[in-house]
Amino acid sequence: MNTMHTTIRTFLVSLALAGSLAWTSALANSGADARCGGAPCDASTSPAQLLGFTEGPATHDAHCDGESCDAALRGLRAFFDRDLRPLGGNGRSCADCHMPADSFQLSPADAEARFQRLQQQRSQDPGADDPLFRTIDADDFRTNGSAASDFSNLRENGLIRVVLPLPPNIKLIDPATGVPSTETVADVWRMVPSVNNVRLTGPDGGVAWPRDPNRSGGYQLDARFTTLQDQALGALLNHAEIQLPPGELLDFMVTLLDDMNSFERLLFTNERVRQLAIAASAGALPLPDPDPPLDALEQQGKTVFVRACTQCHGGPGQSTPQAPVVRYHDISSQCPRPVDTVTPARFNFQPCPPRLARNARTYEITLATGAKIRRISSDPGRALLTGFVGGQPAADDWNKMDINGLHGIKDTAPYFHNNSAATLEDVVDHYIEFFKRVKVMAPPGVVPPIASTDGVNFDRAPRPEERAALLAYLRKL
Ligand code: HEC
Ligand code: HEC
Repeated sequence: MNTMHTTIRTFLVSLALAGSLAWTSALANSGADARCGGAPCDASTSPAQLLGFTEGPATHDAHCDGESCDAALRGLRAFFDRDLRPLGGNGRSCADCHMPADSFQLSPADAEARFQRLQQQRSQDPGADDPLFRTIDADDFRTNGSAASDFSNLRENGLIRVVLPLPPNIKLIDPATGVPSTETVADVWRMVPSVNNVRLTGPDGGVAWPRDPNRSGGYQLDARFTTLQDQALGALLNHAEIQLPPGELLDFMVTLLDDMNSFERLLFTNERVRQLAIAASAGALPLPDPDPPLDALEQQGKTVFVRACTQCHGGPGQSTPQAPVVRYHDISSQCPRPVDTVTPARFNFQPCPPRLARNARTYEITLATGAKIRRISSDPGRALLTGFVGGQPAADDWNKMDINGLHGIKDTAPYFHNNSAATLEDVVDHYIEFFKRVKVMAPPGVVPPIASTDGVNFDRAPRPEERAALLAYLRKL
């Protein structure tokens, strides 16, 4: 019999092919009826039965990488469930954004294609629906509420609204008046990351940032959640708008979140990464190399990657910085991009197109000294969690994001938290400029470890003649 991992994958592929994300129609399309004694499988079919499991838990759990298979199967079901009774909610399942047919993420092309399909369906049936398009993720939600209808950020950029409370010392500036507004939350627009490989990319106990939350890494693009359970609860409340009685989590919710955790921990981009994760959980050393066989160019690219990228994208998840490199970074992926103050410019980032640049807002920050400063950003990152702004670069949370894992990266374009790099070519070109800027910004005599292997030379940056090799290797990750 196949391993559990393969069984789940096969099942997911059949879901994706069926083109349906709703659990009930997924059931109908999964070819599972044969497993239900000839009678149609329905919502009462046990997941084990559905996937053809007849072995006892002790045997088959060995196939679920240390998770309970029953829990993982319940989690799979919940991940696709648009109707998590009795939680209410807006009809969204996790899979509406983390699309299994697209590496468990959402691309702008996916979002636009679904929008077009919905318009077409509505011309026949005015009640047609795609729960991806809920007003909370419309650009005009703050002004038009439940009548909002402008989905530009979703359609053009593949971005979702993430609402974060403003720290007491940070205010938003009203663009109409130029003075601080009464807004108490900031809306930032973020891409939907893949949930593949999340077993490898949570808190890792490595080098610590000086401030909470999650000094050693976490989930979300700003690492604000410690566990996949906390993450899933946040998603249910904010993206799916479920209703929970205030106070304690009900028992079934605790189980639901644990089940989702068990399911997500089985998702990997390929078998080699899965073997790596299992070995890492077991504390095995040395860890297996997750790379496929490499040709000469890819091998050369790997050497460049190790020199130019792993100081930040280190460890088995490629999301752990290597000391003395610090945990969280501003890699100039926000909009607007920094522009050099001297001519000719010493670094030259590709400017953000207007469809992304319009997400920038001006913030007013009150520093510890009482002085007020203003900064512009499309997403201040961890500064929205801590309010800690105005220190030296490494000690400042402004625009700082968590380091993404890179396994399977060839399948998840566009890139960065705001989907601002269309291709891996754009990513590499961005980093070539990034390293130039690090050199320009370094105080005299300081050679930061992110840009230097020996503390003396700025020798980490990818050189133009290494670009093709690096790109070839990135496509193998
Ligand atoms: C409306 C779209 C949407 C829905 C629905 C949604 N997510 Fe997400 N998900 C996102 C976005 C956007 C982020 C990044 C948020 C951030 O960084 O602040 C994210 C982040 C994540 C992450 C973090 C990945 C990482 O590498 O840190 C996980 C895990 C995840 N989602 C799981 C889920 C689960 C489980 C559900 C269902 C309970 C769900 N999501 C529902 C949009 C969605
Ligand atoms: C200074 C630390 C640092 C270095 C060096 C670094 N990265 Fe990153 N990388 C980050 C951070 C932080 C993010 C998240 C930024 C964001 O989301 O906007 C990131 C994000 C990415 C992403 C986007 C992932 C996604 O899912 O969208 C890619 C691709 C990437 N890096 C590739 C590279 C490559 C290739 C190199 C080497 C040339 C490199 N990085 C070097 C810190 C670094």
